[in-house]
Amino acid sequence: MNAVSPAAATVDRYARCIAASKRVRWDLDQDVIRGRGFDYTQKFLPDGLSLAPEFTVLTPSEQRIVSQIQGRTYANVFGLVERYIAAKVLELSRDYWFGDQTALEAMVRFGDEELKHQALFRRIEALAGEEMPPGYRFDFDPDVVARAVLSKRGWAVLALTLHIELFTQAHYVQSIAEDAGLSPLFKDVFLFHWKEESQHAILDELEWRRHDATIDAAERDAGVDDLIALVGAVDGILQAQAKADAAYFLAIAGRSFNPAEREAIAARFLKAYRWQHIHSGAQHPHFGAVLGSMVTPEQMARIQAALATLA
Ligand SMILES: [Fe+2]
Ligand SMILES: [Fe+2]
Repeated sequence: MNAVSPAAATVDRYARCIAASKRVRWDLDQDVIRGRGFDYTQKFLPDGLSLAPEFTVLTPSEQRIVSQIQGRTYANVFGLVERYIAAKVLELSRDYWFGDQTALEAMVRFGDEELKHQALFRRIEALAGEEMPPGYRFDFDPDVVARAVLSKRGWAVLALTLHIELFTQAHYVQSIAEDAGLSPLFKDVFLFHWKEESQHAILDELEWRRHDATIDAAERDAGVDDLIALVGAVDGILQAQAKADAAYFLAIAGRSFNPAEREAIAARFLKAYRWQHIHSGAQHPHFGAVLGSMVTPEQMARIQAALATLA
């Protein structure tokens, strides 16, 4: 017979997140960057994420440039969303100011790590900017995006957050770690990021389930609508960035492309960004299991139908 109560098991999960956070903790300069820059003869984002081989109108060296542009954007998108994640985590920590000091410590460490990650991604953008030709743009204000996300129901915000922190890990384990041809600095950034994200996803799930237990069916149904709206907002960002990145690629490629080729390049950028930031997470088995344990079949079908419009 298991003598541990569900409540005690939950407390233990926060404690284990603290222990893991202490064990893997890294320093941005000493452990990750180590005085290095990027090597532009190497890929940044692996093929499994950039879908570079699907840019069939491009040569292998042009496909490498695509992986570098996408890798730069990949880091910037994390820097962008982590602004709202850090704010959300600090907001949730209020529930533990008095009482469960273990959960409070776990949430404070989570927030602290996301602040460090944002600093890491700003450094990556600066290092990429030193080497790549001018003209790259990433024109989103993280505060504006964070305010828009946090204006939605907490249920939807926590759903989006678990989705992001699960796909972050899946991307590292399934694609980034596996690809031997990547820039060592780029690979290390996402190795160290993954180490701290593992705890975040556990905390996201605990907090999402805790929140879900406090709301009624009508509030959850409205949360499903908010989640669909948030995914649509993410897609709006991806559409704008895919357009910007395709234009940047065409400007630095050093040769001209016909209209059909230009259209194909822009379409592949958008397909890759939707795969990275929407579909790979939506298809994550654990995300599906947690979401499925909370919503009705009708609500799940509504979410799937919304995702299908972004295919
Ligand atoms: Fe992070
Ligand atoms: Fe995180």
